[in-house]
Amino acid sequence: IPVDPFDLVLFGATGDLARRKILPSLFHRFQIAQFSPQSRIIGTSRSKLDKSGFQAFVAEAIREFGQEGETGEEDIAAFVQLLDYVPVDAKDDTGWLALKSHLRADVIRVFYLSVGPSLFPEIASRLSSCNIATPESRIVLEKPFGHDLGSAQALNGALRDHFDESQIYRIDHYLGKETVQNLMALRFANSLFEPLWNSTHIDHVQITVAESIGVAGRGEYYDRSGAMRDMVQNHLMQLLCLTAMEPPSRFTSNAVRDEKVKVIEALETVAQGDLARGQYRATPGSAVADSYLDHAGDPNSRTESFIAMKVQVANWRWAGTPFYLRTGKCLRARESEIAVYFRDPPHNIFEGADGVHGNVLVIRLQPDEGITLRTTIKDPGPGGMRLTGANLDMTFADSLPEAGRPQDAYERLIMDVIRGNQTLFMRGDEVEAAWAWADPIIDGWSQSGDAPQPYDRGGSGPEDSLLLMHRDNRRWRTIGA
Ligand code: BG6
Repeated sequence: IPVDPFDLVLFGATGDLARRKILPSLFHRFQIAQFSPQSRIIGTSRSKLDKSGFQAFVAEAIREFGQEGETGEEDIAAFVQLLDYVPVDAKDDTGWLALKSHLRADVIRVFYLSVGPSLFPEIASRLSSCNIATPESRIVLEKPFGHDLGSAQALNGALRDHFDESQIYRIDHYLGKETVQNLMALRFANSLFEPLWNSTHIDHVQITVAESIGVAGRGEYYDRSGAMRDMVQNHLMQLLCLTAMEPPSRFTSNAVRDEKVKVIEALETVAQGDLARGQYRATPGSAVADSYLDHAGDPNSRTESFIAMKVQVANWRWAGTPFYLRTGKCLRARESEIAVYFRDPPHNIFEGADGVHGNVLVIRLQPDEGITLRTTIKDPGPGGMRLTGANLDMTFADSLPEAGRPQDAYERLIMDVIRGNQTLFMRGDEVEAAWAWADPIIDGWSQSGDAPQPYDRGGSGPEDSLLLMHRDNRRWRTIGA
């Protein structure tokens, strides 16, 4: 359904995220007529560009980062007609009045802050003091939302001085991923899973977000964050919440987010003995400097590029079913999934047959989005009653070929902002609850001065991560199998 015409002001319009994600995403939704040529996209940044310079910049960004086969020159030419550009300096008075004069009174206003987080309060304040933001306007922000609970509260306070929570859209791009949303459909639109979705039937859950890339090019940012702040506090936390939450009574933004907050509040603090931190080391004999420390900007850095942990959700549904989380850079493959391990049948009637292969439901986020259920079947053919494992496999690209190209997470999220649907955005209290859980864990290793364990590039993380599982008589799924 097409959205109403809008004015979208993109702060940081010449930055990396705008070029790679935001502008190509807007283009693709324009191409499929989800918004009309009456809409406007107004780029702002400190760069002294003019309208035609910005149009050329955006056309180039779409050619470079748009989805292959979908970037016809005619469509690009039509799209750049929607663009305008106003130089604005977030830190002084330059440009704000000019920006105001570009906005129309009768359409939705969206302010997308694709800028460093230190500028969030300043921009929010000027949008309000210059009367640029109206009560219907929306403001969109990207993580990091603070560095800890205190800074997250300060940021939320600074935003709420000028905007109502219902106007604030905090992006966690994992929530825009197709399979992440599918997790909700799978759980709450099928009667098969929900009766089994608890500690009586589920032995444990593994959530893996493995990346093959390292931190080169953004080492300084990353070194201040580490895997816990960069990935666990936000993306893995969202995956955990959607897996563990109670069914909301309706699929509305506050009903869904209320349930997620309850999960975060039920999390126990992870003991230092229940986590493993790692840092990737140089490839032996490599001619190029490729260890974490080569890029961190601090040769003695103790920041983790890998973390694994055992998390307990202390509530009625999950007591006794641990959630194991792991994420890291420079691992064997880029692979993200949620694997739900069901308990073995209470009694094995197939005496003498090979063991039952327990049921595992795997929800794959990337690559090859899809869902697989491992089952135990009779090994076909002669030889008596032998059991073997077999997968019921639904790779979306194969099962639903008419669905077309995969949508980038940003496309969905930007359209939701314009529609005014906050379901897939983090609420302020959710962000704060996640920091309240993460802070004592981070403090724990900071105070003890604990150093991360080195691990090899292209593997599956440090030894301690394997031990974390072996100790509980469990095993991680193989990355890049
Ligand atoms: C970002 C992190 O939020 O997510 C990056 O800052 C990480 O470090 C990225 O690489 C992963 O996103 P995706 O969509 O590639 O899994």
